[in-house]
Amino acid sequence: MNGSLRTKKKSSGRVSRKKQSVRKGTTHPVGGVRSLTFHRTLLRGGQTSSTLLSIRAVMRILVAITGASGSIYAQRLLDNLDARTHEIHLIQSQYAALVIREELPGSLRVPEGVSSHSLKSMNAPFVSGSNAFDAMVIIPCSMGTLGRVAHGLSSDALLRAADVMLKEKRKLILVPRETPLSLIHVKNFELLLLAGAILVPANPSFYTRPQTVAEVADTVVARVLDHLGAPHRLVARWQEEKD
Ligand SMILES: Cc1cc2nc3c(=O)[nH]c(=O)nc-3n(C[C@H](O)[C@H](O)[C@H](O)COP(=O)(O)O)c2cc1C
Repeated sequence: MNGSLRTKKKSSGRVSRKKQSVRKGTTHPVGGVRSLTFHRTLLRGGQTSSTLLSIRAVMRILVAITGASGSIYAQRLLDNLDARTHEIHLIQSQYAALVIREELPGSLRVPEGVSSHSLKSMNAPFVSGSNAFDAMVIIPCSMGTLGRVAHGLSSDALLRAADVMLKEKRKLILVPRETPLSLIHVKNFELLLLAGAILVPANPSFYTRPQTVAEVADTVVARVLDHLGAPHRLVARWQEEKD
């Protein structure tokens, strides 16, 4: 999947075009603009003129996995985020491993290029507002973690990262999984929504007629990717085929 976002600018086109070439730009190591594409024109006197054609925006995204059921959602998200385009980081709660062991045969597959972080270290960039990421997704999100985030408890790197996202007004997406819900859960949902978080409950849909467990999970993961602003073709969109 190519998850890049592109903004295009038109060439001024005022010079004589003896020879033209397009040059790809360089990689920025810590996010921001990774790739610039230029249109290079060779002028009559041998000089060149470069016009910026496109900017590829790189997102720095933290994927957090907690001990709620639904590890497959985290796996499918990691599988569908392009770590060659975006900077993807991973952190897991203490109980995530327990649930992953129950639910994912062969354990979690961490794609190449994804950086894993320790829960107990506050040396990660995303624990500081001075280096906040573009987005954080807690998937699946247990009611325990959700409650701790809602109440500002930031006792480990995962919770602190979520706290930073909220205070810095960055995108925090939570994918809660629990049923039934208590009033405490619902009040925590309300608090998080008021604080600016995005809640994408792990409620799969079936109108696209998913055939496998992964396809069912993808109906949720597709909505997460939509909210991240990462282009994807995971699930057909409503009325898409009829257009
Ligand atoms: C197999 C298994 C499935 C679980 N599923 C859920 C769940 O869907 N939602 C939830 O809130 N907690 C669930 N739990 C309980 C959490 O793992 C537990 O509350 C834990 O303290 C959460 O810690 P964390 O938020 O730090 O990951 C589950 C536990 C196990 C062992």
